[in-house]
Amino acid sequence: MSSFEDNYLHYGGIPLPKEVYSEGFTFLQELNLKDDDVLLVTYPRTGTTWMQQLLPLMLNGGDVTQVLTTPNWKRAPWVEIKKLSHIVEQMASPRSLVTHLPFNLMPRSLHTSKAKVIYVMRNPRDVLVSSYFFHQTTNVLDNPGTLDEFIDKFLSGRVMFGKWTDHVKSWRHAELGDRIMFITYEEMVQDLPASIRQMSDFLCCNLSEEAIQKTAEHNSFKSMIDNPFNEVPKFYLNSDKASFLRKGIAGDWKNHLNSEQLARFTSVIRKELQGESFSLPWSL
Ligand code: A3P
Repeated sequence: MSSFEDNYLHYGGIPLPKEVYSEGFTFLQELNLKDDDVLLVTYPRTGTTWMQQLLPLMLNGGDVTQVLTTPNWKRAPWVEIKKLSHIVEQMASPRSLVTHLPFNLMPRSLHTSKAKVIYVMRNPRDVLVSSYFFHQTTNVLDNPGTLDEFIDKFLSGRVMFGKWTDHVKSWRHAELGDRIMFITYEEMVQDLPASIRQMSDFLCCNLSEEAIQKTAEHNSFKSMIDNPFNEVPKFYLNSDKASFLRKGIAGDWKNHLNSEQLARFTSVIRKELQGESFSLPWSL
């Protein structure tokens, strides 16, 4: 399969890879989120896997046993994947859960519970580049074509989970009061212990300084690569081409986008966010 139409279905207007999401979504609307659940929200290629390791560690006081023995999709499963719904139901509390979906497709229980949300954002230029390489490694998405072609797909939302700008707008406007925290991939790269401290305060984890430092060490890019439990199941990957955890840096777009591509990309993103009440944490 290589074309966009062949590879995707639509849920609430959002394109999703058929291979993963063909089993429907009724179960998602029935999901009972609990008061002590933590929902990680990311647009793909924003550091989801990183947070799938960090969140459970923060919630269990920094004990690394689970992280070194359980796959990422079991410690922090995606709520929108039917195949994982039994894991979500059987998990011990506090649960670390994940979604890539927009706010309007969340179950009613997100509104009625006190579940907390952490939204991780990443500079869209790096999301673009990381997604481009990811498309080359996976068997479940369409062929990305050239980088020029992929820029057009990304900007028009013909990629999994649709437009990056729509995703950001959706969650920036989510009416969750102090139950939602925003953090950036770049902050995490720059100072992981400080980011862990900030998230741990938000989640009331009471982590000691020693646990914060230990958690940061276990979540360095190298430790993440060395942990086989962060690997994506082979079924999804054609990983001779590039690894799933690829470079782990901020600003790799500088190595890939030429000045014309950068100008085209930036002008569309700026235009789509014009007049919004929030500002982006990076200057684009
Ligand atoms: P790159 O392709 O730029 O390297 P997701 O898990 O949402 O798909 O995001 C994957 C991106 O997060 C990849 O970006 C990956 O390398 C990066 N990442 C994962 N763990 C990381 C870590 N510990 N430190 C920095 N980046 C990390």
